[in-house]
Amino acid sequence: MIAEYEIKLAVPGDAFAISELSRDTIEYGLPWSWTSRRVATSIADSSTNVAVARQAQRLIGFAIMKYGDEDAHVMLLAVHPAHRRKGAGSALLDWLEATARVAGIKSIQLEARARNTGAISFYRQHGFVQLGLRRGYYQRVEDAVRMAKDL
Ligand SMILES: CC(C)(COP(=O)(O)OP(=O)(O)OC[C@H]1O[C@@H](n2cnc3c(N)ncnc32)[C@H](O)[C@@H]1OP(=O)(O)O)[C@@H](O)C(=O)NCCC(=O)NCCS
Repeated sequence: MIAEYEIKLAVPGDAFAISELSRDTIEYGLPWSWTSRRVATSIADSSTNVAVARQAQRLIGFAIMKYGDEDAHVMLLAVHPAHRRKGAGSALLDWLEATARVAGIKSIQLEARARNTGAISFYRQHGFVQLGLRRGYYQRVEDAVRMAKDL
């Protein structure tokens, strides 16, 4: 079922919830690097978009994308486990893509944990292609799959 989500830029008060979701659903098994302070820095950074998905005013997902001159990089994207497979991740990624197109970005790049087959399938579904592997990218604990999409 496709549910309706409100996608908007994050506000400083979202930093803690985002950092907890990153710790629990993306950085599991790794040292926690996306602390509330780091997320707050990204929210304030003019070359980074932090988007949040809300349902009934509750934050249920987020995405962080950093802009270069021609490329943009998805740093993090996650949906609360209870809200998966209902289109929230797609709504966040579509929002990032639409924003990047308006900004004249030519390609979006990202890394996913090599064992995270669900995320790799999700990005493939959205037209990302696999470019290669980065050995030990995650604190030397796990490899990363590099993916990209030309806009
Ligand atoms: C990856 C993630 C963001 C997807 O969010 P989501 O809201 O469940 O995604 P959607 O509902 O928009 O899925 C769209 C399509 O992507 C594919 N997809 C999504 N999750 C998948 C999974 N676990 N396995 C296989 N395909 C998947 C499916 O084709 C899906 O369509 P369908 O449900 O009709 O089959 C979510 O699983 C998540 O937060 N995972 C943990 C964090 C993470 O891995 N982030 C990415 C790396 S930073």
